Amino acid sequence: MILDFGSQYTQLIARRVRELMVYCEIAPYSSAMEKIESINPVGIILSGGPDSVCRPGSPALPPEFFTTGIPTLGICYGLQLIIQSLGGKVVPGNQREFGKAMVEKLAQDALLSELPSPFQVWMSHGDRIEELAPGFQVLARSGDIVSAVADPKRNMWGLQFHPEVVHTTHGHQILGRFLAVICGCKKQWTMSAFIESSIQAISARVGSSNVLCALSGGVDSAVSAVLVHKAIGDRLTCVFVNNGLLRKNEYQSVLATFREHLHLIVDGVDASDRFLTRLAGVEDPEEKRKIIGTEFIRVFEREAEKIGHPPFLVQGTLYPDVIESTSVRGPSAVIKSHHNVGGLPRDMKFKLIEPLRELFKDEVRRVGEELGMDPSFVYRQPFPGPGLAVRILGAITPSRLAILRDSDEIVQEEIAAAGLTRDLWQAFAILLPVRSVGVMGDDRTYDNVVALRVVTSQDGMTADWAKLPYHVLERISNRVVNEVRGVNRVVYDITSKPPGTIEWE
Ligand code: XMP
Repeated sequence: MILDFGSQYTQLIARRVRELMVYCEIAPYSSAMEKIESINPVGIILSGGPDSVCRPGSPALPPEFFTTGIPTLGICYGLQLIIQSLGGKVVPGNQREFGKAMVEKLAQDALLSELPSPFQVWMSHGDRIEELAPGFQVLARSGDIVSAVADPKRNMWGLQFHPEVVHTTHGHQILGRFLAVICGCKKQWTMSAFIESSIQAISARVGSSNVLCALSGGVDSAVSAVLVHKAIGDRLTCVFVNNGLLRKNEYQSVLATFREHLHLIVDGVDASDRFLTRLAGVEDPEEKRKIIGTEFIRVFEREAEKIGHPPFLVQGTLYPDVIESTSVRGPSAVIKSHHNVGGLPRDMKFKLIEPLRELFKDEVRRVGEELGMDPSFVYRQPFPGPGLAVRILGAITPSRLAILRDSDEIVQEEIAAAGLTRDLWQAFAILLPVRSVGVMGDDRTYDNVVALRVVTSQDGMTADWAKLPYHVLERISNRVVNEVRGVNRVVYDITSKPPGTIEWE
């Protein structure tokens, strides 16, 4: 169990633990005792957090937490909380220590033995330990900063640095030793074990009922559907809606993959005209999203009725969505309203099946591969529910859709040809609502501008613009201007997220 004190790295800790093939869940620190009771963890990790234990009223744990005897590892804020709660002293540092540091081992113990000394770590803290709590010993230091401590009798361990961050060179090993040696965990969290237990759980829950699934064309809903299909076969019916905002040939090719390769029963609904009519003349991004969300629900309701309204609905909810809704930071502020299949109305009265609720995106992809899905589908880049509507700035018209589709196809081809698809979170084209002057042959042109958005990211929450090789940018730019009528200029977006978002609308 990972107790979250609001660190930006909490999910990363969980991913690292899962990479070590140990199952873990994140819970807010405030639910510690209740969760210990209900899930009976074999080990606990306390995350870091933005607060300071020196500040009255900062996040804390009740005294009984410290007497459970469950092996506990505190990281940064977690460590300082352990020390302060057990009678030691933590003080505000003179300056924030942020970045790489070298740590020297002072003792051989279960956590750090087998590591070289010194080794490099990643620090990010303001406060420091001035006095240890009784029973604790220092395992490692960085200068005069206490960097690792332990009280093996209480089964408490603590690190001032972040083992979950790649800059801590032996972080993986340290977490691995905590799990294997201190907690006694076995490497049992594998995707094949997950698949087997989910299939059993789904068949037991569904019994002989029918199930409905809305496919978005993305990985999460597709993997969910294939998993449910393995469990209940053709009692699963999927719906795939063409909202007229998909990429070039996407409706036909995705439909073919679902039906021919994945053997799903798919009700394909081409509702393009209906969506595009409702969107005509609409320029405001939020209004576009709302229209698309509402239309989707209408189309979906009609299809559900047609097939006798099955009692169960499959959704591709992932673990980060689950954590988000219970996180100590609270649901993050709505920057854009995401209209997905997830946005179905409450009054639709379905019982939800969310087979991927416990998984991170990389685990979903591995499940997809284990289920025999084609890697080119499993490693598809994310595509927003509102599709090209949020990539055509301003009003959407058939001719603007055609320009964007043709430009985007070139982007996809060139990124694939350069072998970059898997290294990038997303790469796509955007059609801007401005025209610029150019010269083609002997003629002056006054035409559209296409922007390229190419980013790297772990989870889409933050992102960097990709430093694409110039020759790839050059080829894309040349081809778009030469091959797509109506475009005479290509620009590259060099904004990271934050402050920019990935999509332009
Ligand atoms: P932003 O633009 O918020 O996007 O930085 C973060 C990630 O989410 C995708 N995105 C969406 N996905 N429905 C979706 O399913 C949406 O409405 C939506 N809006 C943005 C975006 O492509 C990026 O990967």
